Amino acid sequence: MTDAPHHPDGPAARPKLAAADVRARKTGPKLAMVTAYDYPTARLAEAAGIDLLLVGDSLGMVVLGYAGTAAVTMDEILHHTRPVVRAAPGTHVVADLPFLSYHVSDAQAIENAGRLIKEGGADAVKLEGGRPMAGRIRAIAGAGIPVMAHVGLTPQSAGGLGGWRVQGQDVDSALGIIADAEAVAEAGAYAVVVEAVPSELGKLITARVPIPTIGIGAGSGCDGQVLVCTDLLGIEDRLSPKFSKRYAELGAATRDAFARFAAEVRAGVFPDAAHAYAMKSDVAAALRQAARGPEPGHDPAQW
Ligand code: KIV
Repeated sequence: MTDAPHHPDGPAARPKLAAADVRARKTGPKLAMVTAYDYPTARLAEAAGIDLLLVGDSLGMVVLGYAGTAAVTMDEILHHTRPVVRAAPGTHVVADLPFLSYHVSDAQAIENAGRLIKEGGADAVKLEGGRPMAGRIRAIAGAGIPVMAHVGLTPQSAGGLGGWRVQGQDVDSALGIIADAEAVAEAGAYAVVVEAVPSELGKLITARVPIPTIGIGAGSGCDGQVLVCTDLLGIEDRLSPKFSKRYAELGAATRDAFARFAAEVRAGVFPDAAHAYAMKSDVAAALRQAARGPEPGHDPAQW
């Protein structure tokens, strides 16, 4: 466990999991991870006892309105990592390395991973890819930066995988994903996200690798689960992946609250006295007197 940083709300209520603690959770209890991109969401997730927060590059799609994750930049991930870290001093925060921020060379990968830790305050970074990324993972981990890997469906390269499809549905491709998971574990990743594979494969990978598997659409056999917060909260209504369960309907509740506010403003019902500042009656009388001016058209009766 690492010391929690200073927090404006007071000391963190619980010690933060370090990467080694996350790795030790291979033997349970299961890890619960959600994405977060802002201060209020991260604060609520910590208060709820979520183990890990991910500033995922899903940011691009669910917050920034991009068509995919590939356009997300280092600066955007950094901008959203900082408030999450400030809001959740007792929670292990993982920041995604965006597309092409780690593909060029080991040096580029270490430099950008280092920025997410030093400038963003993240505890670890995540990158996508299996066997081809083993060298990068070794380089980043060798620089002392904990790396979470991500295999199966890897959204940054979804085009090359035939779109947003379940992966590993035949023996060859399933064996390939097992080999990917083994390679990233061997390269030094402390945990691995396994996305969109059949449950049987999620279970097999979990049995084969010595690090925790964190599933998203990979069945209940994984060592942990992650969901995108806007899916879980029922805010996202354009996409609804089969694996994503809605635990609330905040989208409908938010729309309803905005509509009621607009209707009350238009009807002159909001703000009422309970939501406005009153002035002492003698001060108000003196003010009316002082403000009564000689301007033409001024009608004191309106006061
Ligand atoms: O960016 C993201 O939100 C992710 C999750 C889908 C694991 O990588």
